[in-house]
Amino acid sequence: MMDARCLVVVGSQWGDEGKGKIVDVLAAEANIIARYQGGANAGHTVHVGGEEFILHQIPSGILHPGTRCLLGNGVVLDVEQLLGEIDALRARGFDVEERLGISGRSHLLLEYHKRLDAASEAKRGADRIGTTGKGIGPAYEDKIARVGVRAADLLYPNRAHALIEHAVTRANERLRGASAEPLDPVRVADEVLRMRDRIVPLLTDTGREITAALRDDGRVLLEGAQGALLDVDHGTYPYVTSSTTTAAGAATGVGIGPTAIDAVIGVVKAYTTRVGSGPLPTEIEPPLGDHLRELGGEYGATTGRPRRCGWFDAVVVRYAAQVNGLTGLAITKLDVLDSFDEVKVCVGYETDHAAWDHFPYDFTLLENARPVYETLPGWKADISGARSIRDLVSARSHRNERNRDARERLEALQVRAR
Ligand code: IMP
Ligand code: MG
Repeated sequence: MMDARCLVVVGSQWGDEGKGKIVDVLAAEANIIARYQGGANAGHTVHVGGEEFILHQIPSGILHPGTRCLLGNGVVLDVEQLLGEIDALRARGFDVEERLGISGRSHLLLEYHKRLDAASEAKRGADRIGTTGKGIGPAYEDKIARVGVRAADLLYPNRAHALIEHAVTRANERLRGASAEPLDPVRVADEVLRMRDRIVPLLTDTGREITAALRDDGRVLLEGAQGALLDVDHGTYPYVTSSTTTAAGAATGVGIGPTAIDAVIGVVKAYTTRVGSGPLPTEIEPPLGDHLRELGGEYGATTGRPRRCGWFDAVVVRYAAQVNGLTGLAITKLDVLDSFDEVKVCVGYETDHAAWDHFPYDFTLLENARPVYETLPGWKADISGARSIRDLVSARSHRNERNRDARERLEALQVRAR
């Protein structure tokens, strides 16, 4: 299954595509599995041996004995969450600390980041991003502003204490400005330092480890979190997360060069979901949208929020294929659509004056756009037991009149959209 020596798995919609499951399958053949961005905002649900595991901070690969799991420099590290996950996994019989490495260059995500996240969302009001509340934005803000505390700072307790105190004092100014409760800098620093002894032994240089493994003919799996449309550059800004979720981020996020990557698998669901605010062109109105949510069990793994549901958007996936340089595609949850009479696929967007077949950088266009759909008859069969492509019900040519119509509309109209 894993032909490439260095493989990236990326979400190619708005997250929750089922990356955890694909990573779990591929991890069986990997020596190293590394996360390269994001933090505990991720919620990777994996079923192993009839048991469910939801991992937020630790790579899903940890469920495979013998694998080495890394958190790259591009990750923001919620230390408390990490230790909680380590303990929960240990209680279920997994050895974790022996196999886990944390980049010394990764940034710590502390209590004050979560408080700032909440304050900033409250301030935005109706314009809020709908974050997971895990402090992700503020942690990356500190990193880019060059005032963050890195995991390696924990090597020197006094220095770490001073840095954290200083960071909390600075955050308190912003919290007071937002009428939010400030934190006691000394207490926060003391608490982090208490966890120090468990973090320091895990510190490593992820780029060196991965480079060495590749040189020894090892297999490396770089596990993305969130999805392409939540990428800080390529997503639906500002309704995005604060990291580079796309495949290029895998290189900078662990400390290797892009030439070390051999293949990129994009994971997509057979329909589209999104949690939080921002455009979702193929969103389905209730009651059908609610029905799809129930069928697919579409509730956030991190926050429990109901996910917004929509039809498969081929424009989004084509765009994701481009920005990630996908070499393969894994489609999940096709069987969720088993009972539908009709299945729609968005092949372009249109307004009264224009139609286009690419994902626009001008989001006001998206807000006014209607999806152009090809409508396919449902297969109305239980495909949940299909284990190979031959097991799927055969799909005839569904190119009916209406679909020709959609394609002609797209072709006839000038592609004037940005
Ligand atoms: P943040 O990453 O918590 O700042 O949230 C920013 C946006 O990304 C919000 O719309 C979140 O709902 C979304 N988001 C963050 N992490 C995930 C994820 O793992 N799956 C799906 N959406 C996510
Ligand atoms: Mg998820």
